[in-house]
Amino acid sequence: MDWHIRFSDEKGCLLLLDQRFLPNREDWFECTDTASTIYALQTMVVRGAPAIGVTAAYGCWLAAREAAGEGWEKRLETLLTDLENARPTAVNLRWAVRRMRAARDARPGLDHEALCAFWLELAKEIHEEDKRLCRLIGTHGATVIDDGDTVMTHCNAGALATADYGTALGVIRGAVDAGKRVEVIANETRPFLQGARLTAYELHKDGIPVKVACDNACSLLMKRGMVDKVVVGADRIAANGDAANKIGTSGVAILARHYGIPFYVAAPLSTIDRETPDGDAIPIEDRTPREVTHVGDHQITPDGVGVFNFAFDVTPAEFITGIVTERGVLLPPYSESIARAFAEREAE
Ligand code: MRU
Repeated sequence: MDWHIRFSDEKGCLLLLDQRFLPNREDWFECTDTASTIYALQTMVVRGAPAIGVTAAYGCWLAAREAAGEGWEKRLETLLTDLENARPTAVNLRWAVRRMRAARDARPGLDHEALCAFWLELAKEIHEEDKRLCRLIGTHGATVIDDGDTVMTHCNAGALATADYGTALGVIRGAVDAGKRVEVIANETRPFLQGARLTAYELHKDGIPVKVACDNACSLLMKRGMVDKVVVGADRIAANGDAANKIGTSGVAILARHYGIPFYVAAPLSTIDRETPDGDAIPIEDRTPREVTHVGDHQITPDGVGVFNFAFDVTPAEFITGIVTERGVLLPPYSESIARAFAEREAE
């Protein structure tokens, strides 16, 4: 049974565990068309790069279904473009829509009904594939974790951010599954609180020891020797290894370097964007001020005060000890190890 992303045959829609209300409420959100899928992506009913990719794949099927009728092909292209632009930073969104389009283009002549059936099957395949990739990331990542480690993570790169198991949390789960004792420090991750709400929720559910720390406790915890490794996810990794992830990640990386703590990024190859040469070219999402001015319904800043709400930052490749992928742990220089990983995959 799929956990937080479910295709419902009965309802003919995509069901998403609504991450806006976790851990307090387990509500399900129904994506029935392109608009509701875009709404779910933008408001973070579902979030995390690979989960965004899986949702977008089902979103293509919903778009195709919605486009039915005279002139459907043209309407479909508009819907797909809207879907692809729902969020700018996580490249898995574009990757999924491009993959769906490419698979269709490789089968010219599909009529509307055949395309809907084909895309639903392909979305299910992408969903299953992400589960397998996360397990592989876990297996490779387990090798960089030692028995007894305390691992800091930032944001949520767990089961909730993927189809299942997670990338950064996949590394932690992989180490635990290999019999290692691991404790986790989850940075709370202002303003959406992915660490406090989601990482803590899923690790606690799994019985993996986790403590939540305020984002600004990072330096103190590292100075006191309370952090052995850092493992985070990524929303987009440029061809040179610069990695965009949740705002605050680059500060954690710079502190880790200062205190001599290994810093790993865990992500599938679908998060590596070889069309983006370096981190400066990665678009950074600028979200609604309300996420910063309010905690829930409670306003915490004076009326009329401006805020910054950049959702991501970029960790320069020089601060990254290794990138854990489904094909193994890539090491610097990343422009070479990334190119090699893709070449090896293409040669298979
Ligand atoms: O804004 P979000 O919650 O979508 O940001 C998510 C992250 O930054 C994750 O760390 C990243 O997508 C990797 S998820 C495996």
